[in-house]
Amino acid sequence: MENPIRLIRRTANSRSFHTLDIRIFSHPWSYPNWEGAFSTPASANYFIIHGKKIMGMITSRIMENGRHEPSHAELDKIGILPSFRNRGLGRLAMEAFHQILKNRNIQWVYLEVSSRNLPAVALYRKVGYEIYRERKKYYPDGSNALCMKKTIQNIV
Ligand SMILES: CC(C)(COP(=O)(O)OP(=O)(O)OC[C@H]1O[C@@H](n2cnc3c(N)ncnc32)[C@H](O)[C@@H]1OP(=O)(O)O)[C@@H](O)C(=O)NCCC(=O)NCCS
Repeated sequence: MENPIRLIRRTANSRSFHTLDIRIFSHPWSYPNWEGAFSTPASANYFIIHGKKIMGMITSRIMENGRHEPSHAELDKIGILPSFRNRGLGRLAMEAFHQILKNRNIQWVYLEVSSRNLPAVALYRKVGYEIYRERKKYYPDGSNALCMKKTIQNIV
């Protein structure tokens, strides 16, 4: 079945992403953080669209290393607006993101998540991420950081 979620890339919308961030996350980035994210050449920021509505966002960096070196991506944030959670949209958005990476010949995608963020950890496991390292007491709340990784080129 075709994925009903579309990811629309934006290259200059720090204000809109900052506003979405505040609606989605309990600890959003500051506006200067967003300006910094958009000015990084590798940054790839997407609205998650269902029908004509913005449901959330994905913030990532895509490191393309040329023909002879493997390329990889870092997923910095995925967020679904609170009233649209638990309907499978996060999973569909991750799958759409993985297809974009596959089309760009990316080999691996990495992320870090708090071990206390159970919905996010469950989502990442569901779409095939594996923990390759754990940083103890990494976050200010004392939680561990789980470093997770997924291989992209074998997805269908
Ligand atoms: C994490 C997040 C993106 C999940 O989005 P979502 O659209 O609610 O997720 P889905 O409905 O696609 O769920 C996918 C899977 O994740 C897991 N999951 C989602 N919410 C969960 C919850 N509250 N508790 C436990 N597992 C959960 C389930 O395994 C689910 O699979 P299932 O449908 O077979 O049960 C969303 O909760 C969110 O935006 N959270 C705030 C921002 C955040 O913390 N982002 C991650 C760190 S950057």
